[in-house]
Amino acid sequence: MARDLGELNREEYARYKDDVKKDGKGFFPFAMWHDTVMSFVVVCLIAALAAIWYFDADGVEPGLLGPWYTEPADPGTTDFIPRPDWYFYFLFYLLRIFEWPETVFIATVGIPTICLILLLGLPFYDRRRERRPTHRPVAMVAAVLTILSMAVLTWKGATAKEALGSELLLLVPSWAQEQGFADDPQAVAGAELFAQTGCLNCHIYLGQGSGSLGAPDLSEVGQTNDTEYFVRYLANPAAFGNNVMGSYSYLGQDNLEALGAFLEASKGGE
Ligand code: HEC
Repeated sequence: MARDLGELNREEYARYKDDVKKDGKGFFPFAMWHDTVMSFVVVCLIAALAAIWYFDADGVEPGLLGPWYTEPADPGTTDFIPRPDWYFYFLFYLLRIFEWPETVFIATVGIPTICLILLLGLPFYDRRRERRPTHRPVAMVAAVLTILSMAVLTWKGATAKEALGSELLLLVPSWAQEQGFADDPQAVAGAELFAQTGCLNCHIYLGQGSGSLGAPDLSEVGQTNDTEYFVRYLANPAAFGNNVMGSYSYLGQDNLEALGAFLEASKGGE
């Protein structure tokens, strides 16, 4: 006759209490002393690293552990691609797989939350006492699949290629030809600015770029508005109810007019 689970649990609990009485050590002073020594070691290590960092470097001159500070960030730079730290590459790549806006929420909040809930619930739905890996096929397969998919996503995220502004610049002649503004130097200059100022991080233009954060495809935007409108729009998107796009007034009036001419010339091509 199999004994019921409650009886087994009571027996186990009694044995555990017994063990504690025989071989256990009190929290005070043993465990506390342990923790105190360990914490002290960690604090000393941090202090030592801080001292090495501080005394070995001098301003922007790096020492063993890097400089005190670096050059101020340049918000106008175009040859920098923002990327997460490597341990977020898998999430970063999930974002590239899912399309804005319908499924991005599922990817960034939904899937991680479901995984966390499954993990938190594990002690409640897997109550068998069996712990040998060979006797837990479901758990093992799930674990292997999780590790595998994270590894693949991390790898894909690490090797994902993103076009730099300078690479997108090579597309300008084909844009000019397709949209027919090749002999309008102002529009061409605007197209070059467009390629270099990160517009394609949000917008799509003739199949290039990423439609993220709800930004519209701009390939045919010139059908609805003109240069004068675009200049006002780019100088202050917030005034048009667009709080996602930052102001581009720092580019200066001439550049804004070039961008405007380029956008006006963008009527979708043949
Ligand atoms: C951070 C993301 C982001 C970047 C970068 C960005 N935009 Fe936008 N842009 C948007 C979003 C989102 C909208 C739509 C806002 C709305 O629908 O109200 C938009 C709207 C526009 C519109 C209006 C389209 C229309 O049909 O009225 C134009 C024009 C435009 N962007 C041009 C640009 C240009 C040019 C650049 C680069 C200099 C740029 N954007 C950079 C997010 C961005």
